Amino acid sequence: MPNILTVANCPSENTARLLDAVTHGVLQVECDDLVCWKRTPLEASAEDVLWADGIILGTTENFGYMSGLIKDFLERIYYPCLEQTQGLPFGFYVKGGLDGQGAKTSVERIVTGLRWKEICSPVVLTGDFCADFERQCEELGQRMAAGLDAGIY
Ligand SMILES: Cc1cc2nc3c(=O)[nH]c(=O)nc-3n(C[C@H](O)[C@H](O)[C@H](O)COP(=O)(O)O)c2cc1C
Repeated sequence: MPNILTVANCPSENTARLLDAVTHGVLQVECDDLVCWKRTPLEASAEDVLWADGIILGTTENFGYMSGLIKDFLERIYYPCLEQTQGLPFGFYVKGGLDGQGAKTSVERIVTGLRWKEICSPVVLTGDFCADFERQCEELGQRMAAGLDAGIY
């Protein structure tokens, strides 16, 4: 404890930087037992989700929705996890071009169905890429790790 799973699609250098920032935030929390698994959406399985004490998703907004890769991941794990992961601490970030709201809403609808527990408001990042985007993702990772370590979530 705690086991943290990250699943994010990273089609670009910017999105890879965001995921790195999340991981960096998680690993900043000093906790001997902390394990962080970074899975690509295609690798990630229901077993990974069942293993996790907390999960962080990252998606781009594509065509006003979450990325196809994250949708595929959620479709594959939905029923195998539905009964066993209710209350799973969860956080996510969206990287959009100019909008991001469609991706945010689509993820929220599915995790509401899963009854995962959102630990904080989603991080929605749009417009010109800047260092503050990485800071927000780092904070998301830190928040998950620190909250699980402290037994808050
Ligand atoms: C096929 C496709 C559809 C996209 N649709 C949207 C969209 O609906 N809304 C939006 O804000 N950005 C959209 N984008 C922009 C992506 O979200 C953006 O390229 C992604 O966040 C990566 O950001 P980067 O270019 O800063 O690396 C789209 C990109 C692609 C390739």
